[in-house]
Amino acid sequence: MKIETFALERWMTTYETKVAYDIAESGICPMTTAELLEILPPQERETALADLLALPLGYSEAPGSFELRSLLASTYQDTGPENILVTTGAIEANFLLLNVLLEPGDHVVAVEPAYQQLGAVARAIGCEVTPWRLRPETGFRYDLEELEGLVTPRTRLIVVNTPHNPTGAMLSDAELGRIYDLAVATGARLLCDEAYRWLEIPGGEALAAPIRDRGDAGISVGTLSKPFGLPGLRIGWMAAPADLVAVCWAMRDYVSLSPGKLNDALAVLALRHRDRLVDRTQGIVAQNLATAEAWFARHADVVAWTPPRGGLLALLRYALDIPSLELANRLAEEYSVMLAPGSAFGLEHTLRIGVGQAPAIFATGLERTAACLADLQAGGIGLRPDADLALASPMLVGGSPS
Ligand SMILES: Cc1ncc(COP(=O)(O)O)c(C=O)c1O
Repeated sequence: MKIETFALERWMTTYETKVAYDIAESGICPMTTAELLEILPPQERETALADLLALPLGYSEAPGSFELRSLLASTYQDTGPENILVTTGAIEANFLLLNVLLEPGDHVVAVEPAYQQLGAVARAIGCEVTPWRLRPETGFRYDLEELEGLVTPRTRLIVVNTPHNPTGAMLSDAELGRIYDLAVATGARLLCDEAYRWLEIPGGEALAAPIRDRGDAGISVGTLSKPFGLPGLRIGWMAAPADLVAVCWAMRDYVSLSPGKLNDALAVLALRHRDRLVDRTQGIVAQNLATAEAWFARHADVVAWTPPRGGLLALLRYALDIPSLELANRLAEEYSVMLAPGSAFGLEHTLRIGVGQAPAIFATGLERTAACLADLQAGGIGLRPDADLALASPMLVGGSPS
């Protein structure tokens, strides 16, 4: 398989271990194993630690331990452990599903901009991928009528992501239901990347129920990476009809075989105490959103954003006449701040920001960003004549990320 370069991942790996203020991250700030154990009631903590230390590090149950799959299954309706395949992050679940479900020449409709994998794998397979665009001029709202015009009797798969990376857009429960009905009427499947599940904005809109709950045409992909600050466990999953899970598992035999045993055990602990982790997440997000709102208000002459409706991500728009890649590189190299270039998503004059970072780092990252923008202006970089921060109008720089 020949596949396009994953623009954002390549850029992130250049800087993510080098900068001090990573405010581009798509997840909530990571927990240590000690912090994870601390959320357990004291009487459970010691036993849990002893169990972890005594765990033989052999191969684990290939589809994920029965306990982990049962815990995950219980978060969906009419779903048992046979409907769950634990994978190496949501990224592996998406990869397996796209490879199993699609043939060269198939028609796919996939949200764009997006986490690049969602369109790129289908393109690499040789599918015809029609983008369903979230447009800046509509504040990145999903336009369902447009989708209805894109889906044809040849469409085999519709790919959505809600809450959305990178815009923070969301599909309501009713909208997701309408897409599900469209998929069923067309004879297509609906793959819903729910990597940002459990990430409701504090005091904000409720997230749609997972697509798996609607029936067998819907496939949910989930992960512990984003909502719980556990990306290092590399634990993701798919929730799907048992026959589809079985075929994906058979393909996985050739890729990663099974989850790490210790990771599976830590994932069980995390899921058993999911509510505590959600509380932690909500506290961090609420604090960062307040910091961000105040910062955007203070610097309204050069920056603006549409705050996330769900999840952790949004696009920061800036008025300076400098390409996003150049600005992001400068921020990283000279100010030790990471904000991801919008060009990686095909949206120029934007930077992707994540509100999941530790609040002190987030606040300093924003102050340094303001300093960078002021220094650039002092150095002669002016405002773009066409920049209108009042409108959500970043310049589109072509379809797929480069
Ligand atoms: C929409 C989306 N899906 C999937 C992933 C992959 O997440 P992981 O493999 O860490 O579970 C990401 C990571 O950024 C993402 O944003």
